[in-house]
Amino acid sequence: SQNDPLKVMISGAPASGKGTQCEMIVQKFGLVHISTGDLLRSEVAAGSEIGNQAKEYMNSGRLVPDEVVTAMVIGRLSREDAKEKGWLLDGFPRSFAQAQSLEKMKIRPDVFVALDVPDEILIDRCVGRRLDPETGKIYHIKNFPPETAEIKSRLITRPDDTEEKVKSRLQIYKQNVEAILSTYSDLLKKIDGNRSKDVIFGEICSLLLQVQKEKETRKSGN
Ligand code: AP5
Repeated sequence: SQNDPLKVMISGAPASGKGTQCEMIVQKFGLVHISTGDLLRSEVAAGSEIGNQAKEYMNSGRLVPDEVVTAMVIGRLSREDAKEKGWLLDGFPRSFAQAQSLEKMKIRPDVFVALDVPDEILIDRCVGRRLDPETGKIYHIKNFPPETAEIKSRLITRPDDTEEKVKSRLQIYKQNVEAILSTYSDLLKKIDGNRSKDVIFGEICSLLLQVQKEKETRKSGN
């Protein structure tokens, strides 16, 4: 509804499918998609102060310092569109400190979606991933090849998508995940992310519709 819109966090290991699901969630629910990876990549591309601070960390697959990312996210969440339409936070919080910063500000989601995918599948998904710099769309050389030769010719590979860097990103993810999940244990919904993207989306969709309904019921005092 308009004055109490949906607030969603989506998490999961590198290449678990967060960005892919977010494209579909945004289309259906009209939430403001806040992806820290995408925001940071555009800061790097623009050569901004934040981008210059973040670049080396990202290229080597390490986390960007908490202060830099947290300030960026809080700034984005406080904008009018996010308050009006609701938000879908993707890739944040990624450390205990980041989660605590949001908790202190009383910023909590209605639901915390965690995509679960086995390690060996994640590596293949990262190494085969390609991005369309014009539309921002996510492809995969085997799973989701581009529709036309023109799109194919402009696809790019992320500098942190080599097998070696994916392994270290995954390790960093595993070091942080428990502390984050424990912060949101009351809101946690685990989803099996090792299925077709439409099946996964179907499950996320019914989950979000249910959460939306519960919010409305609470508000009307039933
Ligand atoms: P970020 O961009 O968030 O990277 P990530 O978490 O590693 O996640 P990915 O973007 O790699 O994967 P995804 O889950 O979105 O998967 P996708 O849908 O693309 O962060 C990048 C860097 O920024 C970090 O390493 C860090 O340096 C920095 N950063 C970001 N946030 C930060 C924070 N909070 N604090 C500090 N630093 C931060 O899918 C992957 C591939 O699989 C695609 O090719 C896709 O087509 C394919 N695919 C998707 N779904 C399926 C499916 N169901 N079946 C088969 N293939 C599929």
